[in-house]
Amino acid sequence: MAEVEVYWHEHAVSREEKEKLNGNKGCVLWFTGLSGSGKSTVANIVDHKLHELGKRSFVLDGDNVRHNLNASPKILSEKHSEEFSKRFGLGFSAQDREENIRRIGAVAKLFAESGTIAITAFISPYRADRDNVRAMNQGDFFEVYVATPLEVCEQRDPKGLYKKARAGELKGFTGIDDPYEAPLTPELTIDGSKATPDELGDQVVAFLKEKGVI
Ligand code: ADX
Repeated sequence: MAEVEVYWHEHAVSREEKEKLNGNKGCVLWFTGLSGSGKSTVANIVDHKLHELGKRSFVLDGDNVRHNLNASPKILSEKHSEEFSKRFGLGFSAQDREENIRRIGAVAKLFAESGTIAITAFISPYRADRDNVRAMNQGDFFEVYVATPLEVCEQRDPKGLYKKARAGELKGFTGIDDPYEAPLTPELTIDGSKATPDELGDQVVAFLKEKGVI
């Protein structure tokens, strides 16, 4: 393939100007935790609370993003060739999870650069992948570990996937037969078994105030 040359353009309106207009700093608020831990629920509550405070935020959620930007080969094949779908579709192999997080990390960075609080809710089970996103967003990356115990997530089982995984009908499910590497030094840890989602949301908003994001 011929080498493609691409060039970087400076943005005409600076990030600082955008942040000033928005009334908050841009950043990446990265929720990580097991399926059923409450990532998406708390992420959306935080989004609501920020909106009420007049702040700019946006939620990028694994279950939703995996229907479009990071769609599976099966979803892509509805509109694209088999070759295309296989090449760009994402499943749950270690490599596909890595690419899922790489793409979402890049999108979250764009949001942060636009002066928005990018709230992401992905299992993001591998430490190295999360650390890569952290490195891309130097100083503006806050890892929120949703440390709800596996037993509680499994008991909740909102999508019935733990049951399927235990029955061997779903292979490579995080926490059952695929690893979850918990953060070693997250900026914030919350536990979905110890407080209500609304209380957890308040903890996250208080954290953003403490960090001077809002
Ligand atoms: S990640 O591991 O690549 O970060 P992501 O957060 O995008 O995962 O998607 C996780 C969601 O996909 C889960 O909440 C669950 O609904 C669904 N899912 C389907 N198969 C799996 C699997 N093998 N492991 C984990 N989640 C799965």
